Amino acid sequence: MFVCLCRKVTDHQLRDAVSEGARSWQEVRRMTGCSSQCGKCACMAESIVEEALLAH
Ligand code: FES
Repeated sequence: MFVCLCRKVTDHQLRDAVSEGARSWQEVRRMTGCSSQCGKCACMAESIVEEALLAH
C-alpha cells in the first residue's frame, strides 16, 4: 500500500530500504524520498520503519 502519496512510496519500499542497510528513519527518508513534501505520512511511515528495524 502507498504510505506516502506525494512521493508514491509504499510500505514495501520502506521495508526494502531497511533490508538494503538503512539504520534509521532519517536514512530511509533519504533513500526513498518518503515524507519530503506535505509530511502527513511521517507518523505512519516512521512506525513502519521502526518496526522493520526491530525485526531486522
Ligand atoms: Fe508523504 Fe505527503 S504523503 S510527503
